[in-house]
Amino acid sequence: MTEGLTRRLGGRLAFGGDYNPEQWDEAVWKEDDLLMRWAHVNLATVGVFSWALLEPEEGRYDFGWLDAHLDRLHAGGVAVDLATPTASPPPWFTLAHPDAMPVTDTGVRLTHGSRDTYCLAAPAYRQAALRVATALAQRYGDHPAVAMWHVHNEYATVCWCDHTADAFRRWLRERHGTLDAVNEAWGTAFWSQHYGTWEEILPPRATQWHRNPALALDFRRFWSDEALAAYREQRDAIRAHTAADRPVTTNLMLPGYQVLDLWSFGREVDVVGIDHYPDAPGAGAAADIAFGADRARSFGGGKPWLLVEQGANTVYTADRTLPKEPGDILRHSLAHIARGSDGAMFFQWRQSKAGAEIWHSAMVPHAGPDSRIFREVADTGAAVARLGEVAGSLVTAQAAVLHDSDCWWALDGQGLPSASLDYHGELRRAHRALWDAGITADFAHPEDGELSRYRLLIAPALPVLSDTAAESLRDWVHAGGTLLVQHFAGVVDTNHQARLGGYPAQALRTALGVRVEEFRPLAADAALRLSDGSTSTAWSESLRLTGQAEAVAAYTTGMLTGRPALTRHSYGAGTAWYASTRLDDAGYDALVARVSAAAGVGPELPLPAGVEAVRRHAPTGPVSWLFLLNHTDSPATVEAAGHDLLTGRPVPAAGLTLPPGGAAVLRQE
Ligand code: GAL
Repeated sequence: MTEGLTRRLGGRLAFGGDYNPEQWDEAVWKEDDLLMRWAHVNLATVGVFSWALLEPEEGRYDFGWLDAHLDRLHAGGVAVDLATPTASPPPWFTLAHPDAMPVTDTGVRLTHGSRDTYCLAAPAYRQAALRVATALAQRYGDHPAVAMWHVHNEYATVCWCDHTADAFRRWLRERHGTLDAVNEAWGTAFWSQHYGTWEEILPPRATQWHRNPALALDFRRFWSDEALAAYREQRDAIRAHTAADRPVTTNLMLPGYQVLDLWSFGREVDVVGIDHYPDAPGAGAAADIAFGADRARSFGGGKPWLLVEQGANTVYTADRTLPKEPGDILRHSLAHIARGSDGAMFFQWRQSKAGAEIWHSAMVPHAGPDSRIFREVADTGAAVARLGEVAGSLVTAQAAVLHDSDCWWALDGQGLPSASLDYHGELRRAHRALWDAGITADFAHPEDGELSRYRLLIAPALPVLSDTAAESLRDWVHAGGTLLVQHFAGVVDTNHQARLGGYPAQALRTALGVRVEEFRPLAADAALRLSDGSTSTAWSESLRLTGQAEAVAAYTTGMLTGRPALTRHSYGAGTAWYASTRLDDAGYDALVARVSAAAGVGPELPLPAGVEAVRRHAPTGPVSWLFLLNHTDSPATVEAAGHDLLTGRPVPAAGLTLPPGGAAVLRQE
């Protein structure tokens, strides 16, 4: 539901960022007004961490300063994404409610001095958060500047305290009904873990050896639900005081964020909002943006979404923050818009001069507006301002990667047969293989009731699989779908209990025509060779073919020599492929290309290497917009005609040459 936002922005895409005027003085505010106009900023996220200023003492509010900023922004034509400040309780809160400070799994109680320090399950925190959110909504629900609401910031804190334990037990009663059912679901006959009363159940705190995996999985589900409940409380309080066309959302951190089940958040927010910071430079950043953007779109059921934060000059690698290269600010912004974002926002407008994030980049850097970064930001603002007509348009995909938080949480657990079972890594690799092939992909939940919109599904990591999902995948293949399933799939049910009689779950075995009998994880430095010339690492499985399944490649080294490694099974009108080992990247890309071709799924158009093409379609009618992004250092020629919104010029049938790092947005009929 970005329509209301777009309308309040005068039919334009959103462009702007987090704005923290409370860190500056009047002279700077005046400069902000000028520079925002110069950079075509039309949306500012205000108040994200302002709790201590808004409520200097418990129950006493000071809104005067915020009134002035909202009025000033409104007068300057900048709409506001008004945030509730609940991600950073003020110091008075800690002193008044020490029991609401979070406790780690090792029993350490944290305190204020940073941010995100609260227990979501503590009644005092929830009441205080709801109170300040309600007060803001009452005061600003009708303010003409407010175009959107931003609840909290990146729900991420996890707590193991006694309040959490109480809330966890309540959640377990809801989910399982009786204590007997909990004991049964968790298999507590193992290691003397039988629970005789609800009070005996604890969150998964530090303990001597591996935790019960079913308890650990339920705790992850519970915590995500607890965060969702906290979000909904604030959302509902805001909705009671603001017009329905001002969407309410929260900013979800992507891509490596696994505290929340983002599918359930996607159902509860009016617009999916994400924060995205690429974790690699160059093509790695482009692939990572596509990965985050495709997930954002999918969590919202395909609707337009919003990039709420990106860094102006920030690429976070494991141990340092790398700068963006010239042109990246525009190309990265367009890459998100291409995949369905109705705007491009940043953290933050002006780089802070004090505090823990003084080295985090911003649209106006410490150097001021006479800087490469601000010039690129302003150019990007001008470019985004030309794209208003794409607002509300949709991206469709024929391929999807199956994605389920339960699977991520299970592979994040203890006691697994190999440390190289990497959920996030496999999810990214599957998406990357499709991205490299130019194929636009969604993500889909295995229990998605409408899989029929896809021709190709890839399940890169699917250890937890319900009977319902297994049956629906089987039926989808039977009806004509092409499915690729990778190793260690369907090995446990939703209570984390092993599938008996051979893996994976029965219905998926039927579709795949395989029965896995034994896992054979590989040593860290070991590799196997396959009969198709590829190599594999990390994992292998001893399996038997059933039905009409055939071996596409066999193992040619190790104990499994001669046994099937990659299999294919024609089932009904469809085909199901199984990879029982982790192929090297070249072998994997070749397999994905082969399976995609067999499914009849390909790129938007033939493209030179390193050029990305994504299409957004008008919700009705024949108009679409083809986004072309050249991620290489050389010019690239693309045969596509249309009207380029970025240059305002027609592009003839012979096509166009994108300069190194260049982009085009072609309107096509
Ligand atoms: C985001 C966060 C912002 C800011 C930013 C720094 O994840 O939401 O508040 O901390 O990172 O890059």
